[in-house]
Amino acid sequence: MTQTANINIQRLIERIKALGQCGALAGGGAARIALTEQDKQGRDQVVSWMKELGLKISVDQLGNVLAVREGQQPGKPVLVGSHIDTVATGGLYDGNLGVLAGLEVVQTLNEAGISTRRPIAIGFFTNEEGVRFTPDMMGSMVHQGHIELESVLNTRGTDGTILREELERIGYNGSEPCGSMRAHAFIELHVEQGPVLEQEGFTIGAVEGVQGISWTEITVSGVSNHAGTTPMAMRHDAGYAAMAIATFARALAKEMGGYQVATVGCIEMKPNLVNVIPNSVKMTVDLRNTENDKLQEAESRLQQFIEEIAEQEGVTIQTRQLVRFDPTPFDERLISLVEMEADRQGYRVKRLPSGAGHDAQAFAPNCPTAMIFVPSVKGLSHNIEEYTSPDDIEAGANVLLNVVRKLAGE
Ligand code: HGY
Ligand code: MN
Ligand code: MN
Repeated sequence: MTQTANINIQRLIERIKALGQCGALAGGGAARIALTEQDKQGRDQVVSWMKELGLKISVDQLGNVLAVREGQQPGKPVLVGSHIDTVATGGLYDGNLGVLAGLEVVQTLNEAGISTRRPIAIGFFTNEEGVRFTPDMMGSMVHQGHIELESVLNTRGTDGTILREELERIGYNGSEPCGSMRAHAFIELHVEQGPVLEQEGFTIGAVEGVQGISWTEITVSGVSNHAGTTPMAMRHDAGYAAMAIATFARALAKEMGGYQVATVGCIEMKPNLVNVIPNSVKMTVDLRNTENDKLQEAESRLQQFIEEIAEQEGVTIQTRQLVRFDPTPFDERLISLVEMEADRQGYRVKRLPSGAGHDAQAFAPNCPTAMIFVPSVKGLSHNIEEYTSPDDIEAGANVLLNVVRKLAGE
């Protein structure tokens, strides 16, 4: 790899802002929940940039979009991927940065007249966030053969819609079989979404892997009754039981320490009236840990508490596993490549695990895979104030550029 090249940070920032206009939220950020009209707008925008760059675009049966820059020789491409769907309180960078930096890498190589031995592909995967249709990382998990396509097409969303119908409605029910493209290697640039790089003064994260993820839906059924006339000993309060579970989950994570985290992100109480004891609650618990045995310990202790509180309060509690991913390590050679490239460019680089799930974890079992992190200001993400400075974005994208060139030159 002789000729040097550098990305055009102004152009990359412009694309990040332009994509942020699709589903723009007041106060900044964007909401492009998977398979909504806003997601379609974002998809159409990125596909038009892919066309401008002369890439060969394919849309598969789950709406994953892959765009290929030919190499000197045919063969498995180096795949630069991430996602452009967001949570409802999405920032401008989560997922989007990895896809748009991939396009910037292609445009930089095109302008420099640099060809690579292997093809390079840039992709975005359907429904990485999983907030409307579970599981998260759906598109990449199906693409990489971990989940059957048929099993997800009929998924009912939190809004009652059917995934297959929404995919058709936005026009991204492609014909390409999922997973027809196999990658030589997979590399994803992503904002850290946590506080580590910023707090410790690092510019680049060489990500070691993704921690295990466990999502459970919990439905509590009790007896609604009058808030004023029902003695405490006679209550079967679904709301109290649900909140006891939430309090237990948080205390469990704090007691276990280390990387253990626990989050109750959704809770719906019925009838949700000030003077009526709730008779039904639906809630979710998100548990994560870098070590699988600890994650299993957290899951079994939560389940045991659920059984105890059901007995004590005289309510019935059903649980449904929504997501379960084991911790996923990345490829040592690629992690070292990220470290060496960051070091060579003079950036302080640190190895760290990812607290968030990513499309990369779907590829890691099937091909050499790694991620490059850049700092998140105040560690904020899934929040419209999510921000990463242009200098840090430029650093991450230039590390991506040279890692891709090395992998595509192999
Ligand atoms: O939940 C996650 O970690 C990812 O943002 N889908
Ligand atoms: Mn993401
Ligand atoms: Mn996210």
